[in-house]
Order: sequence, then C-alpha cells, then structure tokens
Amino acid sequence: EIKACIFDLDGVLCDTAKYHYLAWKRLAGELGFSFTEAQNERLKGVSRMDSLEILLEIGHVKCTQKAKEEMAEKKNRWYVEYINKMDQSELLPGVLDFLEECRKNGLRTALGSVSKNAGVILERLKLQDYLDAVVDGSQVSQAKPDPEVFLKGAKRLGTDPSACVVFEDAAAGIEAARRAGMKSVGIGNPGILCQADYVIPGFEKFHAEMLDQWF
Ligand code: BG6
Ligand code: MG
Repeated sequence: EIKACIFDLDGVLCDTAKYHYLAWKRLAGELGFSFTEAQNERLKGVSRMDSLEILLEIGHVKCTQKAKEEMAEKKNRWYVEYINKMDQSELLPGVLDFLEECRKNGLRTALGSVSKNAGVILERLKLQDYLDAVVDGSQVSQAKPDPEVFLKGAKRLGTDPSACVVFEDAAAGIEAARRAGMKSVGIGNPGILCQADYVIPGFEKFHAEMLDQWF
C-alpha cells in the first residue's frame, strides 16, 4: 500500500526542465556547438557539474577545472534569471489538484530534487505548505541515478521505501527510484521512461485512487 508520494521538481511539478535546457544550449552556442533536446535527456536529474561534463563531452571540449567552474556558474546565472521570473502559473497542469488530493487521502508528500535552486522555485510556486519534507541539492552528495535523494526523503517522512511512489521525468530518476526500492510513475515519454512502473503524460487526469489500483 502506498503511503507517500515523492516528487521530482524540474519537469514534474513545473517546467523548469526547459529553462535548464535553454541555459545549457546557450552555453553550447557560446562554445560553438549545437545542443539538441534529445541530447538534453542525458542531463535530466543529473547534478550541475555532471551535466556540464556531459555537455563538454558532446561538444568535444576540453578545458581546465577552473574554466569548468566558471561555465557552470555562468549557466546557473542564466538559469536563475529565468526562475526569478516564475510564478504559480508555471505549475504544470493538475499538479496543485493532485497535491491537494494527497492531503485529503492522507498520503505523505516529499520533494526529491538534486537542484540547489529548489528552495527558490518552491517559494515562487508557493508549494512549501503542500510538502511534508523537502530534500534538495543542498542536502545530498550523490545525484540521480543514486537513490540517496529519495531514501533521504522517505526517512524524513518516516515511511518505508516500499510504501513510496516516485514521480519523475528523468530516466536517471526512475533508475534512482528502482534502486531505492520504490515504485515509480514516469511523467512524459514512455519510450524514454521505459523502466518506470507506469508512465503518464502529466497530472491532469491522474488521481490518488489510481495508486491503489496500480500498486
Ligand atoms: C535536476 C535537473 O533537477 O537538477 C538537472 O533535472 C539539473 O537538469 C539538476 O542539472 C541540478 O540543478 P541546479 O539547479 O542545482 O543546477
Ligand atoms: Mg526532473
């Protein structure tokens, strides 16, 4: 029986995945190569520095550690410009209703994101009151597919991992859920999220009762 829902942030509760992509694409442009949405799938759920490594590998760019740190900082500045303009209208469709349903159905809720910007985003989206626990990039040392972020979330909720379901838009996040011993629901493309227990297009037609039917 499912007792808790753990939500990824970027690309699940809001469409910040597109802002990450735009900022990385801009950096790639400055470095003189193109960067496609398909290539961007590899960066989802991955930490900032690991994402940069993947980007540089795609562009065949070699550089010093110091240059890498400056690039990551630059990308983050662009990204922060986008998220500073966000408001509740950027919540993905159905998200608020589903979070309210979780409350009504006695399901515990947690955020499980490796982003260091998660706090700002939650504030701008006014989501703090809907989440019983928040685990973000400031509290974990391993990015997804390592299960650390989700295991920490379950621990903070006091829920056994086997009674948790993870909502994720990244292949790395689905893998992390599996390694944590949790159920998973992919949000997005079933081809990319083929390891998930179930894949839905979004929360719009999704209801808490479905969790009882599925798991
Ligand atoms: C994840 C995103 O949620 O956070 C990744 O899917 C991103 O694309 C990672 O790299 C780290 O985010 P930030 O905000 O700390 O750079
Ligand atoms: Mg995500």
